[in-house]
Amino acid sequence: MDLLEKCRTYTRADEARDVGLYPYYPVFQGPVDGGRAVLEGAEVLMLGSNNYRALSSSPQVIGAAQDAIALYGTSATGSRLLSGNLDLHEELEADLAGFFGYEAALVFATGYMTNLGVVSALAGSGDQVYLDEKAHASLVDGARLAKASGAVVERFGHNDPGDLARQLAAAPTRSVLVATDGVFSLEGSLAPVAELVAVCEEYGATLLVDDAHGVGVFGRGRGVIEQAGMQGRVPLMTLTFSTSLASQGGAVLADAKTIDFLRHTSRPQIFSAGLSPADTAAAHASLREIRRGAEAEPDALMAAEHLRRALDALGFDVAGGSSPVIPVRFPDESAMLAAQRVLVDHGVYTSAVLPPVCEGYQLRIACTDAQSPDALEAAIGVFASVREALLPRYRPAA
Ligand SMILES: Cc1ncc(COP(=O)(O)O)c(C=O)c1O
Repeated sequence: MDLLEKCRTYTRADEARDVGLYPYYPVFQGPVDGGRAVLEGAEVLMLGSNNYRALSSSPQVIGAAQDAIALYGTSATGSRLLSGNLDLHEELEADLAGFFGYEAALVFATGYMTNLGVVSALAGSGDQVYLDEKAHASLVDGARLAKASGAVVERFGHNDPGDLARQLAAAPTRSVLVATDGVFSLEGSLAPVAELVAVCEEYGATLLVDDAHGVGVFGRGRGVIEQAGMQGRVPLMTLTFSTSLASQGGAVLADAKTIDFLRHTSRPQIFSAGLSPADTAAAHASLREIRRGAEAEPDALMAAEHLRRALDALGFDVAGGSSPVIPVRFPDESAMLAAQRVLVDHGVYTSAVLPPVCEGYQLRIACTDAQSPDALEAAIGVFASVREALLPRYRPAA
């Protein structure tokens, strides 16, 4: 059996394709910024985009990206360490640090690489890493690399500071990294940041909050740390530019010495080209827009609250939470895939999520500032009109 035998015998995707229920790699023609989108030739209401603040179609953001291309070209052309470091990167880092209240920031080429690069550079032999058991794959993969360098990696119960405290009390070392998502992007729950800070401070552990889905949305745009009143007490924060900042890339925020260490030791930073000029400028313009509108409650949150209540009233199995993400749960894969197909056929796009990405089967709805009240009412109407067909199949057994 050669290496590629596993590919030739891989049938899972074909099984879904054969029955017309394959949900992945949908082809959108045009923008997917959270308003209306064109999916395989038909218009849909986009309820699957992480562009929470709808900034990817903002004239300011588009203009900034266009200007950057005109001035700098299309590529940073090399690692920032040697030849690809632009003033655009450093200006963005200074503004990120100022806005989020840290001494310094370091921009990476993606949010995934940020977590990978931070965890693997900071933890190794003699260190311990504690991850929330539902932490994002990029934190998990960073911990895998740390483990390969000798770190001990443990999991603590999801959003369970008590379990973390019990484990830290028994930990053999104080050289500990604790890492969690700020907003769990599949279930929409927020990490208990204040409680995690208290535990980490008690045991001298260093807390990292990956606020990929909280920035721009919570805490006057500053995310869940600010929302929890914990500014200045979370030593490491990471974020992605691919959600509210309407771009590509990511960043870590920390004290100046830690950032300097990461600039020179983090392998995904050193061995990959710098973020492109357009992506850097777009993220920076989005940051300015978020800072400008920071005092206003995002429409995405109000839209999600309205939709969550409406779906619950219709009898869907909707998880709680206060974020723009609404998971609608199903008891099995076929019911979930059938529901997704029916919704698409009626002009509403939601993302189908199933193991190994999450436990169980769910449609993930993500609200953004771009969904007008009329469009949301239309979507609720679609959910209502298909519920009779869906409910018998998807209601969990009592
Ligand atoms: C919690 C979390 N962290 C990090 C990432 C990675 O971000 P990016 O898309 O910039 O690689 C994501 C995106 O899936 C995420 O949800």
